[in-house]
Order: sequence, then structure tokens, then C-alpha cells
Amino acid sequence: MSVAKVDDNRKVTTRRLIEMKQRGEKISMLTAYDYSMAKLIDSAGIDVILVGDSASNVMAGNMTTLPITLDQMIYHAASVKKGVNRTLVVVDLPFGTYQGDPKDAFASAVRVMRETGADCLKLEGGSEIKESIEYILRAGIPVMGHLGLTPQSVNKFGGYSVRAREEVEARKLLEDAHLLEEIGCCSLVLEKIPAELASRVASELTIPVIGIGAGGGVDGQVLVMHDMLGINQGFSPKFLRRYANLGEEIILAVQNYIQDVKSQDFPNENEQY
Ligand code: KIV
Repeated sequence: MSVAKVDDNRKVTTRRLIEMKQRGEKISMLTAYDYSMAKLIDSAGIDVILVGDSASNVMAGNMTTLPITLDQMIYHAASVKKGVNRTLVVVDLPFGTYQGDPKDAFASAVRVMRETGADCLKLEGGSEIKESIEYILRAGIPVMGHLGLTPQSVNKFGGYSVRAREEVEARKLLEDAHLLEEIGCCSLVLEKIPAELASRVASELTIPVIGIGAGGGVDGQVLVMHDMLGINQGFSPKFLRRYANLGEEIILAVQNYIQDVKSQDFPNENEQY
């Protein structure tokens, strides 16, 4: 398998993401939750690793992102960070750790930064969490915003359908995007919204806008690693492109192993001491 060529081995910073937007270079971002995968993804040359709270789904088997705790996110993020040389590491603040008192949000943010060595935090929401974001930014912690489909609000939305199709919600999203840039967010994720709206947001903002299910008119793309590698086999939304079928390969490899153990083909004389 060919490894993507990285022409620049300097550490990716939030500043460099802005420079990438300015020169029209698209930003590549994937999720990772553990040391070994982070090491592989980093060596492939990805720009940003998101330690997403999607760990709640793909690592822990929960139906939503709501159950994952701050301690669990810290465990995943610290593991990822150890595998990374060049890539920027962004960590999701999980549900319930920043939507209330801004001082609690600040305490959550400090814990993640101090205990994981992360480069940046991601928080879901706009004007509702403005003060929390400002508190965190004031401490010199970079923040990536997240608008559109924000999975921590799944119970408010009633599902995972495309957001901001209607005029009122689209206008609120546009206002929130500008607000996040004004208060100092370094970048923004837009999830599952119409491509035209996402493209408009990206063209109006100077900070990079990274999309998932938001079309090609944004400044970069993010996918959940388990989805794009075909490990999470049951999930196939329209926006997902699969780059491998590791789920099938893993099952086949395990079946071959079982067969070799049962038939006593493994281990052979070269595989023992
Ligand atoms: O948690 C996550 O994986 C995310 C991406 C879907 C953007 O927030």
C-alpha cells in the first residue's frame, strides 16, 4: 500500500491550519482513539487527529456520544498523543463538561490539556456556550467549534438527520459561525448540513472550516476512522466514502487463525523455541 507523501514534516499547529486555508490547501482530519492507530495515521501524513467523543460509539459500543466521561476522553487522548509526531491533536470535550457553568468548562478544559498534552479542544454549539468558550480561550487554549449536526444534542434534534435545511436554522448557524470566529475560535467543524450553506460559511470566515457531510466547498474534511476503514460495518450514510474494508479483512484473518489452531497447523516448528 502506498503511503501519502508529506512534503512538510513540521508540526501542524492551529496557525498552520489558517495558512493552509489562505493558500487553498485542503485540511485532512480523521478521528483516532488509541496509540497504535494514531501512530499509523500520523506517519501517513494526516494534518489533524480528532480524539472524538465518537469513541463512545465505536470504542465503547454506546448508541450515542452522551455516556462518555471526561476521564475516558482523557485516557483516549493521552494514548493518541503518545503516538503522534507531526499531527495536530484536537480533543472533544464530552457531554456535560462545558454546557453549564463556564468555570466548570474551564476546569474540564484544563484537565484535558494538562493530562493529555492535546493541542486544541473541540466544543459543540454556538451562542449557548459562548461564555464557556471565552473562558477557555482566555487561558490560551485553542478551541475548534462544531455546528450543524451536533451529536451531543441528539435528544433535542430527535435523530441524526441533516441540519439547517430550513431558513431559520440556517440563519442561526451562519450567525453562530461568525460569533465563534469573532470570539477567537481557531477553526470550525460543520457536520451534516447542505453543501451550499457550508460553502457559504467557509467563504465568509477567515478560520478554516472542516466538513463532515457538508460537501466539498469547505476548507477540509473529517471522517470517523472506523467508518472510512470499514471497521464500523453497519454505518453507511451518503457522505461516507470507504477507503478500506478492514472489517472483512479482520474477520477473514481471525477465521484463518482459528482454522490453523484447530488443525494444528499453527504453530509450526519455525514458530516455537
Ligand atoms: O466525535 C467525532 O468523531 C466528531 C466528528 C464526527 C466530527 O465530532
